[in-house]
Amino acid sequence: MTAESTEIISYLEPSIADDYRNWDDSASWLLGYSFLPLALGLDRLPDTRLLDLGCGPGEVTRWLADRCNARITAVDTSPTMIALADEHAPHERVEYRLSEDGRLSFLADGEMDSAMACFLFTCVDGEDQIREIITEVARVVRPGGRFTILVPNPDQVSGAVFEGFKRGEDGARYEPGELMPVEVQRTDGSWTTIKNRYWNRDTYRTALAKAGFEGPVKELAPVLADTEGVADPALRGDRAWERERTAAPFLLLTATR
Ligand SMILES: C[S@@+](CC[C@H](N)C(=O)[O-])C[C@H]1O[C@@H](n2cnc3c(N)ncnc32)[C@H](O)[C@@H]1O
Repeated sequence: MTAESTEIISYLEPSIADDYRNWDDSASWLLGYSFLPLALGLDRLPDTRLLDLGCGPGEVTRWLADRCNARITAVDTSPTMIALADEHAPHERVEYRLSEDGRLSFLADGEMDSAMACFLFTCVDGEDQIREIITEVARVVRPGGRFTILVPNPDQVSGAVFEGFKRGEDGARYEPGELMPVEVQRTDGSWTTIKNRYWNRDTYRTALAKAGFEGPVKELAPVLADTEGVADPALRGDRAWERERTAAPFLLLTATR
């Protein structure tokens, strides 16, 4: 590990994993997670088996299990995250699993109907690692199954200010793999700065193709108007959502096995 890479946020650190639950994730819910059923086609697939890779504390996992009647295997490499998920987001159709080495050896080839990874790759250090992770996902997803990744929009990084966070330094441009500061607001109003790895569309599209997701990759880049009829209107709260009217903070890329 290089000196630089030690700066990246590690959810293996219990205090960081714990603090993650205090971050204000309103924007992620309104303009990211709410679009997962659409991207994955889950409404049309009752009783589907879904892999949630990098599930973190399990809030999104539990919501999807309810929303889509999915049976979910939710995996994380952080023991603290899995413990938090077991404690705070238990669900009868969700099984939380720790994978210390990042592999999915407890899953058989083609066992999953679909898979998702939300905000996982910003804490992965290299393109080879991204490809290894996606190759393992490709192994466990059945032919025809979808894989959706929810990622920061790589076009919105040069100091872009969205509700609850600021991504990148003002005017900065980032190369794939570079560390990028992100200021994140907590629900108590305080702020913390984390470091994310910057990856672009090419990184994801190349990794998906090399890992065996050979078909076209569909892209959703939701802005505020797209949330009508998709997201719970209550998620808007009393925020202004100014930049979100014209700029998408997140991307959902969906590939088919
Ligand atoms: C930013 S958190 C996102 C958590 C959750 N998906 C969400 O959207 O709230 C990223 C998570 O990915 C996990 N992670 C990192 N590398 C991983 C890997 N190779 N396999 C599984 N999980 C991983 C981290 O431990 C962390 O919990």
